[in-house]
Amino acid sequence: MRQALADAGIESAEREARWLVEAGTGRAWTDLIAGSGGIEVAQEQRTLDLTHRRALGEPLQYLTGVAGFRHLDVAVGPGVFIPRPETEQVVDRALARLPRGGIAVDIGTGSGAIALAISQERPDADVWATEISLEASSWAKKNVSALNSAVHLVSGDIFEGLPSSLRRRFDLVVSNPPYIQSAEAERLPDVVKDHEPGIALFTGGDGLGVVRRIASEARDWLREGGWLVLEIGATQGDQAVALVEGFGYAEVSVEKDLAGRERIVEVRR
Ligand SMILES: C[S@@+](CC[C@H](N)C(=O)[O-])C[C@H]1O[C@@H](n2cnc3c(N)ncnc32)[C@H](O)[C@@H]1O
Repeated sequence: MRQALADAGIESAEREARWLVEAGTGRAWTDLIAGSGGIEVAQEQRTLDLTHRRALGEPLQYLTGVAGFRHLDVAVGPGVFIPRPETEQVVDRALARLPRGGIAVDIGTGSGAIALAISQERPDADVWATEISLEASSWAKKNVSALNSAVHLVSGDIFEGLPSSLRRRFDLVVSNPPYIQSAEAERLPDVVKDHEPGIALFTGGDGLGVVRRIASEARDWLREGGWLVLEIGATQGDQAVALVEGFGYAEVSVEKDLAGRERIVEVRR
């Protein structure tokens, strides 16, 4: 198995092989190594099938059905974006801006990762999440239920679907929106462009179409002094700053990731 994955060019073949064995057998690696109980034929067949699919390029997390995000295991599969480690930093910034007992909304929640993490780490907050894709929404719903979370999910475009009674009441709007130009699709790794939903990745034009709409509409949903925290692409810092300044936001700052790339824009209404 490890060799099949390594031959397919997968760098961390050893680790992935273990995870796929655990997913295929439903048993912990340590139990299997300890030799407690044998492996049934069906479990072995399932493990081989998962390994084969991984070697053919399917994302590991779609095969194991789970992605780690901060303190959570989030269920994922075809139809939903796989939460990325860099977005954990977006949650750090969101938590720093969210007052005690505050109201927050995660726009384009996908699996629910950002909203679920905020709600888990700040149970005092009232957390909402919106999503336009019905497939992604069904994953978010599943996660909210499995994690027994208090996040309120709504379906719709950007802020559509939120109760109008929440207008001008949010302390925080946070989002990891699609921000890759459609023209850039060919540069993405196959494991991303062939499997993850296009609506989660791409927008037309300059790649800031959804960012622009969120920044524009958030002015109607944030209270005075509330914060907008947005993940952006590594080369979009200057454009994103100009964009939010154009909408009249104050206290504009850009957060860098560990590699020194500008990845988060924070602004105050
Ligand atoms: C990059 S993914 C991020 C998902 C999740 N927030 C995360 O960080 O793992 C962007 C998400 O925004 C959703 N989306 C795209 N356009 C949207 C729109 N106009 N309104 C609401 N959600 C949208 C996509 O379906 C996708 O789930």
